[in-house]
Amino acid sequence: MSLQLDTRQRAMLEEMGVRVWGPLLPSMGELDDVPASPPRGGEAAVPAAAVAVARPATGVVAPLRAPAPAVARAPAGDIAGMDWDTLEQAVASCQACGLCKSRKNTVFGVGGQRARWLIVGEAPGENEDLQGEPFVGQAGVLLDNMLQALGLSRAGEGAQAVYIANVLKCRPPGNRNPQPEEVLQCEPYLRRQVALLQPQVILALGRFAAQSLLQHSVADVAAQPLGRLRGQVHQYEGVPVVVSYHPAYLLRTPQDKAKAWADLCLARGLMQAASAA
Ligand code: URA
Repeated sequence: MSLQLDTRQRAMLEEMGVRVWGPLLPSMGELDDVPASPPRGGEAAVPAAAVAVARPATGVVAPLRAPAPAVARAPAGDIAGMDWDTLEQAVASCQACGLCKSRKNTVFGVGGQRARWLIVGEAPGENEDLQGEPFVGQAGVLLDNMLQALGLSRAGEGAQAVYIANVLKCRPPGNRNPQPEEVLQCEPYLRRQVALLQPQVILALGRFAAQSLLQHSVADVAAQPLGRLRGQVHQYEGVPVVVSYHPAYLLRTPQDKAKAWADLCLARGLMQAASAA
């Protein structure tokens, strides 16, 4: 696969630590199995003020909503029929698991509702919980840079637009790993977001996103190293899914950024094929 990169995209890749003068894309046969992304707890918290400077203004952040009257959670069948605003309201008032007790804000997602790309992360961290927007810490800065290298942005419109959401809409205290029960309770929300957005490609970042999206299509997905799930095209509800490393993992393991770039290029190829069809 050849790469046509303009100066700005090259600069972005350099910033990500991906060398643009060398062979950018390892052949799939060269990709090692490496451990899936480690717990999010290692992701350095960034003070909200610092983040506000580092992160580009999106202009598309939904205003933080006043807490709605609490309800445990609508039955999955009801969620499957909700429109976007009703779904967002349902998430804002959700009490389906214990995370509602410690959250400051629910984190529904950010980006254009007509986005053709859907990025799925794991769960909000401290900054996301405070700001009500996904990926606003250091990992978010890296994610934004990776997306920008493809000409994409959470503030983008049309072909540039992405939507960013998480498996969990509430922060696990202390950034601990999501519990199976929490993933189970939150799953209908992401499923409905996918149905309403109808993206042309989903990028699943990290092992929790991969496990949640591929649990019905990949046998024993929880036992698969992330490295074995990437480099191929999966499906979720009829939408192609590309698995890649979580940006927090890439911050700790910069030598894998080239593989993450290969994953982005795989997803971009799917998008280009879908557009040409
Ligand atoms: N990590 C995630 O997986 N999601 C966020 O929103 C922030 C950090």
